[in-house]
Amino acid sequence: KNSVNGKQMIWNSKMIAQLEWSGDIINREQKQLVADKIAAKVKNGQVISAGSGSTAFLALFSIADRIRKEQLDVKFIPTSIEIAMTCSSLGLQLTSLLENKPDWLFDGADEVGPNNQLIKGRGGAMFQEKLLMNSCAVNYIIVDPSKIVDKLGSKFPVPIEVFPQSILYVESQLLALGAASLNLRPAKGKDGPVITENGNLIVDAWFDTIDSNFELKIKSITGVIESGLFQQQKFEVLM
Ligand code: 5RP
Repeated sequence: KNSVNGKQMIWNSKMIAQLEWSGDIINREQKQLVADKIAAKVKNGQVISAGSGSTAFLALFSIADRIRKEQLDVKFIPTSIEIAMTCSSLGLQLTSLLENKPDWLFDGADEVGPNNQLIKGRGGAMFQEKLLMNSCAVNYIIVDPSKIVDKLGSKFPVPIEVFPQSILYVESQLLALGAASLNLRPAKGKDGPVITENGNLIVDAWFDTIDSNFELKIKSITGVIESGLFQQQKFEVLM
């Protein structure tokens, strides 16, 4: 596709080559350990969905290292522009859900609560993260021990992606669901709120109690595109 008469066209981009993780990576050593564990799972010929966040970022570097050394043929379906650009900077092959079904997925999490329930979406990519996790039969959540919590929602709010015109309606419905506080996520590097990759807003919602049906309750509000609450999905947690 990206070729003329069979000759591969390659961008010569300094901007992509110089990409780094924005800011410090908290608990880097522990994240690196689990990144190496996930890299050991890669097999030649696979299509892998790459999650977002700093742990997934480190994992991609470890995987790229194996691909280079062992000359593996592996394709990636990214869960965000951020991780697509990391794939590009590492020279990894990208594909999409329209072309391939991923063999497996790896992704990070903000909280891992009792009964394998997650909060994700600090990076704002929860819609594609959930779409890809639901599309994969095998999913690995890669976390450092700081992510394990006794009660879901104790350290992180539930991020909710909202269609902009429905923001006031969604606010009223989230309050009716018992939200203790709701914050429109502000952007950094742009005035006003965060606008997601899908052109929507993010509401960070704190709840005192999150029951086991909450993902479905939030999703049933008209105007909610997706939330970062993962209660219905099947995955294995690696540390
Ligand atoms: C992004 C996510 C990340 O996977 C989650 O925030 C974990 O990030 P990190 O690995 O940097 O701690 O859900 O939307």
